[in-house]
Amino acid sequence: MQSRSFPQHLLYGGDYNPEQWLDSPEILRQDVALMQQARINTVTLGVFSWAELEPNEGEYHFGWLRAIIDDLFENGIRTILATPSGARPRWLAEAYPEVLRTGEDRQRMLYGERHNHCYTSPVYREKVGLLNRRLAQEFGNHPAVILWHISNEYGGECHCDLCQNAFRDWLRRRYTDISALNKAWWTAFWSHTYTSFDQIESPSSRGDTGLLGLNLDWKRFVTAQTRDFLRAEAAALRSAGARQPTTTNFMEDYTGLNYYELAQEVDYVSWDSYPRWHCGDDIATALDTALQHDMMRGLKEKPWLLMESSPSAVNWHEISRLKKPGVLIGSALQAVAHGADSAQFFQIRQGRGGFEKFHGAVIDHYGGSDTRVFREAASAGKLLEELSAKTQIVTSHVEAPAALLYDMESRWALEGSQGPRNEGLFYRETLRKVYSALRRCRLNVDVRSAQSIRDAQGLSRYQLLAAPMLYMFREGFAEILRTYVQHGGTLVTGYLSGVADETDLCWLGGTPHGLLDVLGLRTEEIDALPDGRKNLLLPCKAAVWPKADYTCEHLCELVRLGDAVPLLTYGRDFYQGSAAVTFHSYGSGQAYYVGADAEQAMYDDLFELIAAKLAIPRLLEEMPDGLLVSSRRSESAEYVFVQNFSPEPKILQIPEDARLLYGEATLRPYSSVILERPN
Ligand code: GAL
Repeated sequence: MQSRSFPQHLLYGGDYNPEQWLDSPEILRQDVALMQQARINTVTLGVFSWAELEPNEGEYHFGWLRAIIDDLFENGIRTILATPSGARPRWLAEAYPEVLRTGEDRQRMLYGERHNHCYTSPVYREKVGLLNRRLAQEFGNHPAVILWHISNEYGGECHCDLCQNAFRDWLRRRYTDISALNKAWWTAFWSHTYTSFDQIESPSSRGDTGLLGLNLDWKRFVTAQTRDFLRAEAAALRSAGARQPTTTNFMEDYTGLNYYELAQEVDYVSWDSYPRWHCGDDIATALDTALQHDMMRGLKEKPWLLMESSPSAVNWHEISRLKKPGVLIGSALQAVAHGADSAQFFQIRQGRGGFEKFHGAVIDHYGGSDTRVFREAASAGKLLEELSAKTQIVTSHVEAPAALLYDMESRWALEGSQGPRNEGLFYRETLRKVYSALRRCRLNVDVRSAQSIRDAQGLSRYQLLAAPMLYMFREGFAEILRTYVQHGGTLVTGYLSGVADETDLCWLGGTPHGLLDVLGLRTEEIDALPDGRKNLLLPCKAAVWPKADYTCEHLCELVRLGDAVPLLTYGRDFYQGSAAVTFHSYGSGQAYYVGADAEQAMYDDLFELIAAKLAIPRLLEEMPDGLLVSSRRSESAEYVFVQNFSPEPKILQIPEDARLLYGEATLRPYSSVILERPN
């Protein structure tokens, strides 16, 4: 077990915006007292403070920030300090219009909003770099500042001339000569052949949107440019002597960037979690959040930070529902259960005006501790403090016997294609179905970017590997999967996998590319069903399956069987009776193929059958339906978190080898239990 110097206890607190209250010292004093009462030990400062830090070009004011950081520190509260590049002051845009973003229609934006800047602009990079260096000189060795929060939720894209040139240069480096690019982008189609890199323009509704290779590479470029900007921000901090680790905060299911790439530039991954509680099925919401937590952990394969979450309502949701009693604590514990070393909120104090004045906060407009939300925040603070003090949670890690692969570039290419279903391919939903089924088997799950898998060795710790809808197989990737299965691994893949290469050119000679003998089949055609239309999946051996039939929708792939064994066949249409879900032994391992977008119950039953067959040890031998379980392991013990995100009470059988650390075996709605099991 690797020892860690950061953090030394679970971080608890959130975004704090004192720059909105500098004329109210009594409020700032009150905040510190209330934070202490809520056991808040960490705040994030400076995310949107540029206008206060540099009110005019080159005129820096750090005194106010230092006073606040010092004051908080004296009262036991440490600071995560942001670089303020997420929103720029007016003077910057007025003096240097190039810092403003240009849309795909080639129109430059006006000053406004946040995150509205060009990541290529040399002026923007210079001004951010100068301010970052000054911040690092001021606070780079300050004992209260424990982490750099670089920018805020990087995102969006710019199509200005500077970006166009940078894109062309990026393509020159990638392809070297234009004929290689023409081949990769298949430009002979519609006579779009380029004769020079200088002819290339980013995708635009006024130009090309249908050149799929261009679209894909443009997305890659946007990620590369944002990554480069992030790298430059971090380098500026380091060059001025900042020694603290770095992070940047990510968003849920954001498809504008490939986070796997950005994560390489920071020491810790963090993300901002805003689930839509109580608008539908809360268990599904909890599972979706769990999936995102595990995805974030997988980016660096180490503990991560929950950087933002709402203490209650989220004002930018369509409907701002209150978190029901228990959900604040449950959400904090869920993050910790999935490997977070923090539970941070947006925001500590609610602003009086502006866009977020109705957003949930630990301290609301009333301003006291006598509120439902404050009381719950204080209970969560106490609990996290106790966990840090009495357990080894902070040095523990999540260990998973199963992994789920996803791939942002694959998703871009797949969702950017025309056909087989332009009204939705349901990639994220399919990941969620597989993930939910694995969780229902009471297993920890690693969610890994396929890009992070460099060799079969990297997969050898997994007994079970799921790779649904993995459209893009990069050169050599099939070999990795083959070796994994050959050496005893169990692979579950399925429709629309291994279809195209890294440049989105379809593989020839049968798909899933390179795995025909591993799977014992090849795909032939894929049928897309209109919304609401379903097919049936019928068990070949009724005794094996808990249900007599399952439904599937959206996509039904037709396969040509080699020596794979059909497990389920289609129940309707001209392909009635043909294989839909199959099994095949290969080497010392096994490979399953799921050919259709099956209902959740099929995935649940299939993974239960596989987990039982492989005798994968479960976190709990038994658990009532609707509870979620996840665990972390330290040198001495395993901490098992069992959570009830449903409105019904549930009764948990506490295993004999475990001790109840927190909670009650009768789990009230939205309550949690933590068990400790010695190793
Ligand atoms: C986040 C953002 C915060 C705040 C929050 C409100 O996306 O990083 O600054 O706006 O949303 O939910």
